[in-house]
Amino acid sequence: MAVAFGLSGLLLWNSAAQAETYDLVARYVLETVRAFRSAYVLHVVEHTKEVGIAPKEDWVKNAHAIPLPAQFVKTAGSDLDTFEIGIIGLTPIYKSNLPKTEAETDALKSLMADPSKKIVTFADGKQFKAMAADFAVSQSCADCHNSHPESRWRNFKKGDVMGAIVVRLTRQAN
Ligand code: HEC
Repeated sequence: MAVAFGLSGLLLWNSAAQAETYDLVARYVLETVRAFRSAYVLHVVEHTKEVGIAPKEDWVKNAHAIPLPAQFVKTAGSDLDTFEIGIIGLTPIYKSNLPKTEAETDALKSLMADPSKKIVTFADGKQFKAMAADFAVSQSCADCHNSHPESRWRNFKKGDVMGAIVVRLTRQAN
């Protein structure tokens, strides 16, 4: 299994076996988050659409609305203490969804440049991270982002990489 080391990673992740274990765990967590997120989009969002129930940012105030896919991931993430899951973009609607480090920015850029990669993993200081490209699986993803008042990128098309789901594991001292 290929394990990518950043420069700081070389200093902290001195055991290749340890890095491989984190790599595997990060990939499992990421796969799980992606699977739940896809199930939500394909089986809840798409299903309720037929009766006029749609994802809306202020869904809490509206009994006929459900959370946005990104809010679904972020809410689950806010319930975690031991590691982080999140959703990021290079031109996000809100700055809070920008990559947290230079290594995350570089990883996201590499996913956008070559979407066939789909997943990248890398050591980043004290954390080990896995990132999966988040594709505009339906036109509604692109439409909402292109028309949101806070949007700083209005040119998304179906199939584009809009950002990434990210898992951040913190290395345990040992
Ligand atoms: C109805 C509007 C709407 C729809 C539909 C929607 N999004 Fe978003 N998306 C948002 C908003 C608003 C945020 C910021 C939410 C937050 O951080 O609280 C966001 C956040 C994101 C982010 C994090 C980076 C950023 O731009 O903030 C990604 C990546 C993303 N969405 C991808 C998608 C994908 C892929 C789909 C389709 C499966 C999708 N979105 C559907 C409105 C939408």
